[in-house]
Amino acid sequence: MAALGGRGRAAAALLRRAPGTGAAPGAGPRRHRHRHKEKWATTAPRIPSTRLALHHFDMSYGLHLGALWPSVRAALLCEQKYGALLNNFAAADHVPRELELLNATDFVSEVSQKAQQWQRGAAVGEAATGCQEGSGESRTEMVTQAEMSPPLCTSSKIKCYAFPRGDITRFRPARPDALGLLDYYLMDAASLLPVLALSVQPDDFVLDLCAAPGGKTLALLQTGFCGHLAANDVSVSRTKRLYHILHSYVPKEVRDTVSVTSYDGRDWDQVKGGTFHKVLVDVPCTTDRHSAMEEENNIFHKRRTKERQMLPMLQLQLLITSVWWRGRWTLQEPSSTSVCTWRT
Ligand SMILES: C[S@@+](CC[C@H](N)C(=O)[O-])C[C@H]1O[C@@H](n2cnc3c(N)ncnc32)[C@H](O)[C@@H]1O
Repeated sequence: MAALGGRGRAAAALLRRAPGTGAAPGAGPRRHRHRHKEKWATTAPRIPSTRLALHHFDMSYGLHLGALWPSVRAALLCEQKYGALLNNFAAADHVPRELELLNATDFVSEVSQKAQQWQRGAAVGEAATGCQEGSGESRTEMVTQAEMSPPLCTSSKIKCYAFPRGDITRFRPARPDALGLLDYYLMDAASLLPVLALSVQPDDFVLDLCAAPGGKTLALLQTGFCGHLAANDVSVSRTKRLYHILHSYVPKEVRDTVSVTSYDGRDWDQVKGGTFHKVLVDVPCTTDRHSAMEEENNIFHKRRTKERQMLPMLQLQLLITSVWWRGRWTLQEPSSTSVCTWRT
C-alpha cells in the first residue's frame, strides 16, 4: 500500500473506527488520542497566502474583467515594469535625451496627443454629422470618444518615461544633481493616472488623504500647479518615507507649500479645517502584486482575514470623507474634483 500523507493517515484512521463506538479499534486512553489530534492539527499543510490571493483574484477579477483577466493575471505575476517620473525640480535637462536614446518614451505626452486627436476627430465628426441625416450612430461614437478621452491636463508638466511593450530594460538608479535632488522617481506608470485625472489647475489647494510613501504626492508637485498640498497618511512609519521622498526630490521653497500629517483620514473633518479644490484618495488595498507573489506580510494570511474583510468598509469611509471635503468646496466652486483609486 502506498504511503499516506497527514490527511491520508487521518482518513485511514477514520475508516478503521469500531462500529458504534466512534473510536478506532485499539485506541488508547482519551488523553493520548487528544495529543495525536493536536499534533495532526499543527502539522496540517497551510494553503499559502499567495495561492489564496490568486484564487480570490480569479474569482473577483475574472468576473469583472472577463476576457481581459488572463493577460492582467499574467502581468500581475511578471516582474514589475517601472516608469521614470522626471523630477522637474532637479537640474537634469539631459535626462529626457538619455532616456530617449534608450528607446523610452514619455507616455504622458503621447496620451495627451492622442486625447487631442480624439477631440479634434470628435469636433470634425460632429460638424460632419450635423449636415447629415440618419448618421446618429457615428456621431454618438465620436462624441463618446471625446467624452471618454481622459481629462488630462495638457498643460501638465508631468513627464513619465517608459520602455515599449515587451521591452524589459531596467532604468538605472536615480542620480542626484549638484544640489542633491534626484533626477527621476521610479514608479508603476499606472499610478500616475489618478494624478493626471485629477487635472490640477494653477493654485489649486489639493488634499492627498492617503499619501505615503509619496509617489503620487511627488507627481502632484510635478504639475507645478499646487497652491497648497496637504499630504496625510495614518501610518507614522510610512509618513517618514514620504518625508524622505520630499527631501530627496523637492527643494525647500516647494516643500514649504506642503503640509504633512498623520491622521486617520476618516477623522479629517474633526482634526483639520480648510477646504480643497481637489482631493486624491489612494485607498489602502490588497496590494495585488505583493499578495500574489510574496508570503511575507501578505494580507491574505489567515491572521489578517479580519483586516482584509474590513478593507471595503475602510475604503468607503475614506471615500465619504473625501466627498465631504469636495462637497464642501462644491458649494462655492463648481469645478472641484475628487479622484479615488478604488481597489479590491
Ligand atoms: C495605496 S497606499 C498609498 C500610496 C500613495 N498614495 C503613493 O502613491 O505612494 C494606501 C495608504 O493608505 C494609508 N491608510 C490606511 N488607512 C488609512 C486611514 N484610515 N487614513 C489615512 N491613511 C490611511 C496606508 O498607511 C497607506 O500608506
